[in-house]
Amino acid sequence: MGVLFSSGVLYFITVWDQRMPDNISNNVHRNDRLSFIQEVLRHPLQIGSIIPSSRFLERRIVETAKVGSADMVIELGPGTGGTTRAILDAMPAHARLLSIEINPHFQSLVDNIEDDRLISHLGSACDLKDIISGYALDEPNAIISGIPFSTMSRSIGTRIIEAVSESLAGHGRFVAYQLSNRVSDLCEPFLGNGDAATEFLNIPPMHIFHWEKR
Ligand SMILES: C[S@@+](CC[C@H](N)C(=O)[O-])C[C@H]1O[C@@H](n2cnc3c(N)ncnc32)[C@H](O)[C@@H]1O
Repeated sequence: MGVLFSSGVLYFITVWDQRMPDNISNNVHRNDRLSFIQEVLRHPLQIGSIIPSSRFLERRIVETAKVGSADMVIELGPGTGGTTRAILDAMPAHARLLSIEINPHFQSLVDNIEDDRLISHLGSACDLKDIISGYALDEPNAIISGIPFSTMSRSIGTRIIEAVSESLAGHGRFVAYQLSNRVSDLCEPFLGNGDAATEFLNIPPMHIFHWEKR
């Protein structure tokens, strides 16, 4: 069953690569994709997606989060680091990025990214406030999350969203790319109603929700 699933996913990746020009498709290395699939088979609910985000989705995420004008950015769930590289590419030279990843294998991949602006932390988004204060960082202008709110308990999801809401700087943005709209329900009591869009050039198509802290 697992072999069939991985073969199907690899087929999709191959088709995806062939349909896109090299400069569009090669943002995540093939080894990273294989690592991603291996970890999905081990922890499907915790990862919540079948392959890393496409470059199209990465671009939508950094634009929606206004990363280009941020001083401090936090990423929850960087996975193999494709989204992390996209954020770093878009960030100003003086800005900082804290990435928080619960999976030790993924965190070690992100830790290999050579960029002085990046802090790669192994831990859970549940401990967001303690992690920020542990590094003595400023309030983030943007928090970007790929962690799957639809597969975690409501109490854990609420705890994470409450911490996101309390941590953000004024007018800071929370951007969550998700398969389901569960994150909207969780956010409403803390950040009100957000906006949503869909990126179809991703396998599978992904919703991008965002809120701005008032
Ligand atoms: C859908 S993947 C996104 C990966 C990558 N950012 C991308 O777009 O390709 C979700 C990631 O969130 C991580 N994750 C899940 N729960 C988490 C938590 N509570 N704290 C931190 N990371 C978590 C998973 O290990 C996985 O790497």
